[in-house]
Amino acid sequence: MNHPMTIDTEHPYLEIQGRHSLKGEVKISGAKNAALVIMAGALLCSEECQISNVPALADIERMSQILSALGVQVRRTGDRLEIDGRDLKQAQAPYDLVSQLRASFFAIGPILARLGEAKVPLPGGCAIGARPVDLHVRGLQSMGADVLIDGGMVHARVKGNGRLKGANIYLDYPSVGATETLMMAATLAQGETILGNAAQEPEVIDLADFCVSMGAKIRGAGTNTIVIEGVSRLHSTDYSIIPDRIEAGTLLIAGAITRSEISLYPVIPSHLASVIAKLHEIGPEVLEDGPNRLRIIPRDLKATDIETLPYPGFPTDMQAQFMALLTLTEGSSVVNETVFENRLRHVAELKRLGADIKVKGNVALVRGVPFLSGAPVMATDLRASAALVVAGLAAQGTTIVQGLHHLDRGYDNLEGKLRALGANLRRVDPLASELATLTQS
Ligand code: UD1
Repeated sequence: MNHPMTIDTEHPYLEIQGRHSLKGEVKISGAKNAALVIMAGALLCSEECQISNVPALADIERMSQILSALGVQVRRTGDRLEIDGRDLKQAQAPYDLVSQLRASFFAIGPILARLGEAKVPLPGGCAIGARPVDLHVRGLQSMGADVLIDGGMVHARVKGNGRLKGANIYLDYPSVGATETLMMAATLAQGETILGNAAQEPEVIDLADFCVSMGAKIRGAGTNTIVIEGVSRLHSTDYSIIPDRIEAGTLLIAGAITRSEISLYPVIPSHLASVIAKLHEIGPEVLEDGPNRLRIIPRDLKATDIETLPYPGFPTDMQAQFMALLTLTEGSSVVNETVFENRLRHVAELKRLGADIKVKGNVALVRGVPFLSGAPVMATDLRASAALVVAGLAAQGTTIVQGLHHLDRGYDNLEGKLRALGANLRRVDPLASELATLTQS
């Protein structure tokens, strides 16, 4: 039995009146995970890089601060970033910022490749599991780096001429971050690097395309073997980030759960193949409605099973949102989270809304219920926050989603986009309202 939750009166929350249907077209922003690693990739270049279609997110802001702390100039104009890596001189990334943003650890590859030395704090624990960096470290060691981990700091150094050497590296697991770290490091290494059992996520391809646009020699990105021929320097570029497949997937779920027909643009439909296949299995149709546009047509919802896997398997970053949808299907579904060990914390919150879910280890049994009822809930991580928002859109009455700093890390104006589609939700900032009342009185 869940205890009723009180509402935190100090932090902003979302107030959602559920059961409004959605209609129209929604614009998908640039991919968070591609933008973050491409910003780190810009450190490889000693000239200015222009990056466009960058989403407006707290994580991107944090990454900009980390680059600035490394001596690199970052300027933002609208969705464009100018990153001037000429002045990268500082090999040590600041602890307080890296500990808040795991992706910033991936900068260890470019810093080491450029300067022959990098000191980056361990990213630390995180709400969705231990998330070690052993694969990053072992790969860099294979490329000739001496790595010392001491006092929470990873200190990597390349002796001799300071240049990493190409190596034949096999990853025990197709880690997205390790593939990206090592691919970036290899672009400036001496000789050829072969990355076996590499991650095949679209964001890895986007990073490779970005590096190639700066003159890197990379083949095979998007397959499980990536071959990188090191070059001595990279040149400036102007590059546009791919659309965010996870934001798009989340909005497809928003359409399916509210039984609404909506369109999404721009998207790369093949990046969403596993999510679309699972949506078809449970009912809704998802059609390609012209180039880079998807339309979801609602249908009654039947249960299905999902298992998260590395790409092209079902993305772990869509598991929570999809589970929210499964709570309202007819029948029982099994959700197996295989990528991270602690990524079912949204279950307790979905249960507050009336969902019927049982968890054993990393597996959840979801028994469909006829309806959810609004309640105060707390976001526990980024994708969990999105799951609670979509559940709130379908729930009867009022859902209060707290812990919005998680949502703001990775969704570019989700509530504005949903409101434009007809959802009834608003952000309430209790302190701002209190201040307004005080100034009036
Ligand atoms: C990236 C994404 C994240 C997504 C995840 C999996 C970014 C910024 N984040 O995270 O949104 O959920 O991919 O698609 O791109 N592992 C190790 N040792 C390592 C590295 C990873 O054991 O050195 C393990 C992790 O603990 C986890 C699994 O590998 O269990 C997958 O992690 P990984 O693919 O590395 O995820 P991230 O790159 O951190």
